[in-house]
Amino acid sequence: MIHAFQTIGRIIHGNGASRDVGNEVRAIGASRVLIVTSEGIVRRGTHAPIVASLEAHGVAWTLFARGSSEPTPSDAHECAAAARECGAELIIGLGGGSALDCAKAAAVLARHDGPIENYFGVGLVPGPCTPTILIPTTAGTGSEVTSISVLEDPRTNSKKAIVSDHLYARVALLDPELTVSMPPRITATTGMDAFVHAMESYVNRTATAFTDAVNLQAMRLIAGGIRAACVDGNDLGARADMLYASALAGMGFSNTQNGVIHAIAMAAPASLHLPHGLLVAAAAPMGMAFNCQAAPEKYAHIAEILGCDPAGKTPRELASLAAQGMRRLLADLGIEPGLGAHGIDRAEIRGIAERAAAAKRLMDNNPRQGTAEDLQALLEEHF
Ligand SMILES: [Fe+2]
Repeated sequence: MIHAFQTIGRIIHGNGASRDVGNEVRAIGASRVLIVTSEGIVRRGTHAPIVASLEAHGVAWTLFARGSSEPTPSDAHECAAAARECGAELIIGLGGGSALDCAKAAAVLARHDGPIENYFGVGLVPGPCTPTILIPTTAGTGSEVTSISVLEDPRTNSKKAIVSDHLYARVALLDPELTVSMPPRITATTGMDAFVHAMESYVNRTATAFTDAVNLQAMRLIAGGIRAACVDGNDLGARADMLYASALAGMGFSNTQNGVIHAIAMAAPASLHLPHGLLVAAAAPMGMAFNCQAAPEKYAHIAEILGCDPAGKTPRELASLAAQGMRRLLADLGIEPGLGAHGIDRAEIRGIAERAAAAKRLMDNNPRQGTAEDLQALLEEHF
């Protein structure tokens, strides 16, 4: 079997790395940029050192700030129009996954005709996009290194993804200092999203030695650092571990896609506007229970990373403990497992199961196949 491992070409990382942005823009040959960010980032002034760096390098900039909710197709169109209007030769995404995904979708539309819905799916973007530099301020989505942009489609009340190699950023700037203001709850939920990215990529049927390497390291860093990052947001060592882990996980799952946990989380009713990371964390133990005997060696490693004692246990026995290890971690972080605890009604179970089973991008290479009936039974048991 022949595989490809692809990732972005350049990652600048370390405290203060975001202040290098002017250099990086110039190295790409751009002199006018659009900065895509959120109103919260602008209010807090997080963008100020980035703007100062651009100005120091003579780069003209325009700001496009929107709310922090998931971007919609109309956000992407508005953002692309702003990029064309200011003659942006490069788009900088600054913020959480929503800002970065909006920047990536706008980079598609700045070069290619809309509507953006034409590109929902895998490999449908016809050619190179406006170059992007992505600077995350949360440690979770890994969007800065992935080839994926997730938009909320209000027509179908669901999330849709554009997956294309043309979405890779030219540079990701990973600056742990930008993440210190993230509150503990968001640190916990986005951090668990990153852990699940690494885990679902690690157990994926398309996993390789290359994806295993980044995913195992991502899981170790998160399991070791997430509690400290939540307890003391100014712990720059823990913040760096979380930020780098989230990028490592992004490098992994960009090459494999996610699995059943994301299928369930993304099938939850969008009308409740529950944070993606919270849904993923809440669905993690049930997804692990569903999968663990389909890839026992790998789940045995995951169980060890989650602090389960391997002494005297077979891989299958250890694998079956992985979900318990996850529940302990969630308890430490104050996250209730299951969907019912987060306001989702039991009446939604059938719909969630049907939508999750139909999410082919996520379910096709999950270690265990699942029909809507299988997932309904799983959801009923762990709701
Ligand atoms: Fe995710």
